[in-house]
Amino acid sequence: MSEFRVKSIGSLEASFPVPGDKSMSHRAAMIAGLAEGVSTVRNFLPSEDCLNTLRAMRACGVEVEVLEEMPGFGPTSMRIHGRNMQLAAPTAPIDCGNSGTGMRLLAGLFAGQSFECELFGDESLSGRPMGRITGPLGDMGAKIDCLGEKPGCAPLRIHGAKLHPIRYELPVASAQVKSAVLLAGMFCEGITTAVQPAETRDHTERMLESFGVKLTTEVNAISIEGGQVPQARDFQVPGDISSAAFWVVAAAALPGSCLVIRQVGLNPTRTAILDVIERMGAQITRTIHSADDGEPIGDIEIRGAKLTGTELLRSEIPNLIDEIPVIAVAAAMAEGKTVIRNAKELRVKETDRIDTVVKGLRAMGGNIEEFEDGMEITGGSPLHAATIESHGDHRIAMAFAIAGLFASGETVVRNTDCVNTSYPGFARQLAAVLAESRNEADYDLPTVPA
Ligand code: S3P
Repeated sequence: MSEFRVKSIGSLEASFPVPGDKSMSHRAAMIAGLAEGVSTVRNFLPSEDCLNTLRAMRACGVEVEVLEEMPGFGPTSMRIHGRNMQLAAPTAPIDCGNSGTGMRLLAGLFAGQSFECELFGDESLSGRPMGRITGPLGDMGAKIDCLGEKPGCAPLRIHGAKLHPIRYELPVASAQVKSAVLLAGMFCEGITTAVQPAETRDHTERMLESFGVKLTTEVNAISIEGGQVPQARDFQVPGDISSAAFWVVAAAALPGSCLVIRQVGLNPTRTAILDVIERMGAQITRTIHSADDGEPIGDIEIRGAKLTGTELLRSEIPNLIDEIPVIAVAAAMAEGKTVIRNAKELRVKETDRIDTVVKGLRAMGGNIEEFEDGMEITGGSPLHAATIESHGDHRIAMAFAIAGLFASGETVVRNTDCVNTSYPGFARQLAAVLAESRNEADYDLPTVPA
């Protein structure tokens, strides 16, 4: 089992890209796989989560020609031969690994097929709530059995059916649930509407539109008319802002730092992390270079400062839900209180992230109070090294690697193979950023393929 060993550093100075966006890579594999024609997808994230989704699409007869790879991980550029909405029946159960996005969106795709299939995942995924998608997909006419030991949990046996459209009011602000309903809606006659209680990431809508599918959005109600066929196109996946978030916090909390993260996705439904870190006192410059594929891409420059605490707004929570572990680390470095409430969803992520963050920060000397729906961190006192267990959660492993940069002594993060679910090459990039910041010649920064 691998681990990170991290020591403190005075300041950071480097410029580099991060790997492709996880949410968009899942969607690109699915939508290009459904499309009419051959799409080229570049800067695909070769993480275990996204590779599982790509394998799932291949299992449904989608042909994938690999053009470029990230050595040791998997394809980054590929040609995907779309099936014109006609998926083939997979011959074996489909492994979604650790990925809630993979399982929930694929369930949406499979709900309207004329075959039966099974989706399963690892221990963490087998404990996460699937009723939030089996409910609306069931209302549309699919029959989905939750076969897990825990009620409402995976494995899922999906008996595809001829679906009928619904108007579904989501009880939780979840892009995964919205996307499952909209993808299922593509296989219905008529108009399917997903109404979200708050804005969530809109990559499904943007990507479908860039593949020529028409949707209408009225405030938080998104509608799709079934029967439309996505048209193949070339799609460049931007760098993942959720991966960039670790570097944003690393630089922000170390006065004198200047990091530039290049080619990052700057979709406004994902950039609340930047607003929060700016509010805490760091200086962040965003420069958008393009939005050719419906998704803004640009560089962010972060200059470190002595941070001060802040309160996360209720409306910001869905936008930065994945960044909360590393925001909590920034809060431990910030003078005063940081309040994170209305974030109960953290309890059903890859781990219970309220519990794992609270335990980890306390082990490093952080002053943190736990609530059912969040936490309050009183920062500013020095952190010290500790041995932190990731519990197999990628974002916990990386957040505490960053905490190690701020702590006295050597921080050990245990059980770090899980970072490959979202950030292949993180350990190498960390070593490279530290080497570049210390002006050591011997480093090798990964680059984004052309
Ligand atoms: C995702 C949506 C979010 C996020 C997850 C990826 C997506 O989950 O936490 O990492 O790609 O749609 P919810 O929509 O369930 O909040």
